Order: sequence, then C-alpha cells, then structure tokens
Amino acid sequence: MAVLEKTKLRHEEIKPKIGSRILNSKEELLSGELVEEINDLLEQRGVLVFKKIDFTDEEQVTFSNMLGGNATEIGVDGGAVFSISLDAKEHSKEVIEYLKGSLYWHVDGTMNPVPIRGSILSSKVLPTWGGNTEFANCYAAYDDLPEDKKAELDELRVTHAMWVSQLYWCPEPTLAQLEDWQSKGEQELPLVWHHKSGRNSLVLGNTARNVVGKDMEESARILHGLREFATSEPYHYAHEWEVGDAVMWDNTGTLHRAMPYDPDCGRLLRRTILLGDEPFS
Ligand code: OGA
Ligand code: MN
Repeated sequence: MAVLEKTKLRHEEIKPKIGSRILNSKEELLSGELVEEINDLLEQRGVLVFKKIDFTDEEQVTFSNMLGGNATEIGVDGGAVFSISLDAKEHSKEVIEYLKGSLYWHVDGTMNPVPIRGSILSSKVLPTWGGNTEFANCYAAYDDLPEDKKAELDELRVTHAMWVSQLYWCPEPTLAQLEDWQSKGEQELPLVWHHKSGRNSLVLGNTARNVVGKDMEESARILHGLREFATSEPYHYAHEWEVGDAVMWDNTGTLHRAMPYDPDCGRLLRRTILLGDEPFS
C-alpha cells in the first residue's frame, strides 16, 4: 500500500552566510505544508530565492498570506500587491520619489514601531541594464563582530528619519520637498535588535540619521563603518533577475537595495508583504 509522505522543503545554500534556493514546485509551495519550514529557513538564511516560479498575483498573495502575510500594501486602493516601478505610468511623482530611496541600503519600515517581517518580489519585466536587487545579512554580520565591539554597540540607539534617506538620491532638495519628507517624522531605534528568538541583528540603512549621544563625525563613522561591514562580501547576495523569479527576504535581519537602472525601462517587480509581529527592541 502506498504511504503518503509529507512534502519536505528542498533547498540549497547560495552562499554560506546568506541566501538559499528553494527547489520545490509551485504546487508544493502552495499546498501549505511547508509554511513552518519556510518561515524558519527565512530567518536562518535572510533571503530565499524561488527561481522561475512564475507566481501569478493571486498565487503570490495566497503564498504570502499562508506564511503570515495579510498586510495591506502601500497601494492607494489598499490592495495586497504593489508594483515596484519607477515608471510614471505606474505611480504618482510622490511614490516614484519615495521608491528612489530604495536604491540605497535600507530596511523597510524604520518609521513604524513594528516593521514588516518580510517581503516577496516577483519579476515581471526585466530592466535593460542594472537593476539587480542586493541583500545583506545583518544577523550574520552581527554574529561575526568581535565580542568587545558587540558590547560597545549593544546599548547604542540611533535616530532614523525618512528625509535622511531621500537626501541620498536628492542631495539638494527644495525647502518644500525637505519639509514634506520631514513631516513623515523620525524614530529612535536600537542599533542592535535583540530579537525574541534570542538572536541579534544590526539595524542600519539610509534612514539612520545619528547615533544618540555621539557627535556627527563619530556617529557617521559608526553607521557607515557598520554598513560597509554588514554589506561586505560574506554577508552579501545580489539577485540577478529573470522573469518569473520570486525572492523573499527577512526584513527584520537584512538590508536590501536596488542597483541603479534606467527609470524609463519598464522594470517591474510585484511585491507582497508579510505582516510584522515583532517591534524593534
Ligand atoms: C522593496 C525594494 C528593491 C528593488 O521592494 O522594498 O526595496 O530591487 N525593492 O526594487
Ligand atoms: Mn525596500
């Protein structure tokens, strides 16, 4: 008599300290049987790649919700899928400007007390040049710091502000632009996120304005130095897109950014998000 075996998650490492490729079929992924294993692996590996999985929007939403999605995207109509595109036909000028901040290393949601847990991007239209998405594992980078450095960083706090991230792509804004960005507020976050799992990760990125209690020069050395370290080769993965690829990242322990691309080329990624369940702490 045939015994029905539970579907197992099949995967292979991309690099020792970041990234795994998931080898299961779309049907297996959508069966719901792999949810726990996928969520665990995401936390361990930072980034999961589903090569040429060809999710439709509906399938991507189903898959995201299965993993703990249920977060409404930032789309105006409150839909579950959001287009990542710099194309003027897709978005208002304001949204496109906001998305330009994603060309620099960042965590999504540093202005929120509970950031999203993760995101899934699916490639629909390739860029003509550039446009890889890069990731850096900030759990692994923290783990590799010398113990005295960890102790030094452990209690530091950092003020994050959206306007600081916008200056990366627009260093000479109008006053009106600056005031608009500044109206989004700021938030003080720990430099080291002590997760409820017991693991720790570095909270960095383009919204990081200053380390509380340090002067500008020292603060910049700490933040840029750690960003340089966390995004260095051992912790870094660049995804070169093929149409149909889906990539999921753990937003609570990784940095990510888009590499430059022609804004008019039509590059299109469809994004769903996984609801956050852990405040920065
Ligand atoms: C995002 C993001 C990067 C990219 O979707 O949050 O930063 O490559 N995307 O477009
Ligand atoms: Mn982002």
